[in-house]
Amino acid sequence: MTTVLVTGGSGVLGRAIVPVLRGSGADVRVLSRRADGSPGECRGDLLTGDGLAQALSGVSTVIHAASQPSHPAADVTMTRTLLDAARAAGVGHLVYVSIVGCDQVRALPYYRAKTQAEALVAAGGVPFTVIRATQFHEFVAFLLSRAARWPLLPLPALPMQPVEVGAAAQQVAGVALGAPLGRAPDVVGPAVLTLPELARTWSAATGRPLRTLPLPVGQLFTPLIRPELPGVGRSWADWLAQQSTRPNAYAL
Ligand SMILES: NC(=O)c1ccc[n+]([C@@H]2O[C@H](COP(=O)([O-])OP(=O)(O)OC[C@H]3O[C@@H](n4cnc5c(N)ncnc54)[C@H](OP(=O)(O)O)[C@@H]3O)[C@@H](O)[C@H]2O)c1
Repeated sequence: MTTVLVTGGSGVLGRAIVPVLRGSGADVRVLSRRADGSPGECRGDLLTGDGLAQALSGVSTVIHAASQPSHPAADVTMTRTLLDAARAAGVGHLVYVSIVGCDQVRALPYYRAKTQAEALVAAGGVPFTVIRATQFHEFVAFLLSRAARWPLLPLPALPMQPVEVGAAAQQVAGVALGAPLGRAPDVVGPAVLTLPELARTWSAATGRPLRTLPLPVGQLFTPLIRPELPGVGRSWADWLAQQSTRPNAYAL
């Protein structure tokens, strides 16, 4: 039986990946700093390395979905620490979850850190797959719910192609259960919308007022989309119609 350790298995993407893996018959361990000893959970900290050797014992595949977007340097440290431990444990496949176009957006420290972490994974001595996804519907909705507190929200007309987290989880789990690919196809949603369109439709679906000031600067800037790829999961519009008034996964 394949034993998979999911870092970030307690996070939004990780919580969607774990049942897919278990449904396929894999033995799944979740690494978390907050693990309480429940079956399948391992306490560990990727910044210090505490608990990692034990969590990785007997593991054939690691999905690395742990992240700290508000502390980008932590993602680099965590990835380096994990790679060292995975190499020592003889892990046969490490899957790193990254972001579509991260290497094109140098202005964002988090995207620079993701690009650096991708490079570490590629040079890390563990057979690997990097799989990039676009922004999750859940994440976009969460950011908009926060932004709705602002009296006026300036938004560049940046095209985005958000994807439902459950559909992204299916793709990540599928890749993890296969052989290392180096780079997997990007995971994108079925429709491209600009940020102001996302905001307007979110506001209409939730009934929460959101005053936006669309800025034209994003029109020629398209690193975050892959319209040529087949999108997966529900469209933003369908997801909004069914989910917009339910509790947001990022607010739990
Ligand atoms: N959000 C998006 O729209 C999006 C889009 C594309 C790609 N991604 C990528 O997908 C991955 C998952 O994102 P997400 O939004 O699901 O993240 P999330 O919900 O914020 O979860 C972050 C996870 O990281 C873990 N973590 C943080 N610091 C840790 C540490 N020192 N040691 C061990 N675990 C640690 C947390 O576990 P504990 O707190 O339980 O320890 C938590 O499970 C990230 O790599 C992200 O870049 C996200």
